[in-house]
Amino acid sequence: MATADIEVGDMVVKEGDAVVVSTAAANWDESVFAHPEKLDFDRDAGHQQPAFGHGIHRCIAQNLARVELEIVFNTLFARVPGLRLAAPVEELSFKDGALLYGIHSLPVTW
Ligand code: HEM
Repeated sequence: MATADIEVGDMVVKEGDAVVVSTAAANWDESVFAHPEKLDFDRDAGHQQPAFGHGIHRCIAQNLARVELEIVFNTLFARVPGLRLAAPVEELSFKDGALLYGIHSLPVTW
């Protein structure tokens, strides 16, 4: 809820207006990320990406989560080096609801 008129990008949010942030839109801004639809582990996202939230409630365990994911993926690909998709990407179905983005199922083989 805006406590005063405030400019956000090229819009003005008026005092008393409520703002609902679309988490599903996060990280898809082409003016911030080139080719946001591409999975790019080498992308320099810096502190611009909002996956761990923002401000005082920013994820307290973000560094733990990053280390956990690094261990998970490194271990998975080391143990199953031939891991690959078992279906064409075009045939995969994605969750496109407002709250969480993801994939319904991921058929793999090795
Ligand atoms: C990839 C993994 C994770 C993601 C994407 C993530 C994402 C987030 C986000 C977006 C918030 C902010 C929520 C808000 O603003 O209301 C948050 C807060 C929080 N996260 Fe995580 N999180 C992850 C892993 C973890 C883990 C592993 C822990 C604990 C072991 C954790 C503990 C917390 C706590 C306690 C808060 C609340 C912080 C506060 O309100 O001050 N998170 N997380």
